[in-house]
Amino acid sequence: MTLTTQKTIAHILKVNHAGEYGAIRIYHAQLWVSTWLHPDLRTFLTETLSHEIDHCRRFRDSMNAYKTRSCRAMWLWSTGGWVLGFVTALMGRNAVMACTAAVESKVHRHLDEQIAFLMRVNDPLADLIADIRVQEIEHLEFARARLKETNVSRLIEAFVGIATESVIWLSTQGAVTRMERGLRLQ
Ligand SMILES: [Fe+2]
Ligand SMILES: [Fe+2]
Repeated sequence: MTLTTQKTIAHILKVNHAGEYGAIRIYHAQLWVSTWLHPDLRTFLTETLSHEIDHCRRFRDSMNAYKTRSCRAMWLWSTGGWVLGFVTALMGRNAVMACTAAVESKVHRHLDEQIAFLMRVNDPLADLIADIRVQEIEHLEFARARLKETNVSRLIEAFVGIATESVIWLSTQGAVTRMERGLRLQ
């Protein structure tokens, strides 16, 4: 395995771990607000939160195996995630679904790109990511099935999409973006 490949794998693990932590913070804030405003969403949010905690732990364990440290922008994922979850939960059920759909569709796309890359370099990490992706698709489908498209929901999806891509780029200094661009060109 080349040094560039090793570095890309380290970036993938770093950003996935940070992203899962961001997701934990989003769902945690939404669950907290939902106790008062949307008790009917608590079952979905509790289950989804438990999935994200498990994903985060699995990426953390792999980071140890690949000798990778946590992302330096963890504070940004943590604060940004919590604020996003809190604000969307205050805005209502549809905003929660728009936020989930936006986050999970970004996650889904990135995981697909990563799996394609990892399969080429024959790394067992591809299986771990493919396994986690199953639950991410469930989260996405749940939100998509309940989301009512409005101007506000489209705005939330666009904002969350841009914010997520920006934090991913910052967290990896563009390495994951370069990997994805390279894969698309092949
Ligand atoms: Fe996750
Ligand atoms: Fe998820």
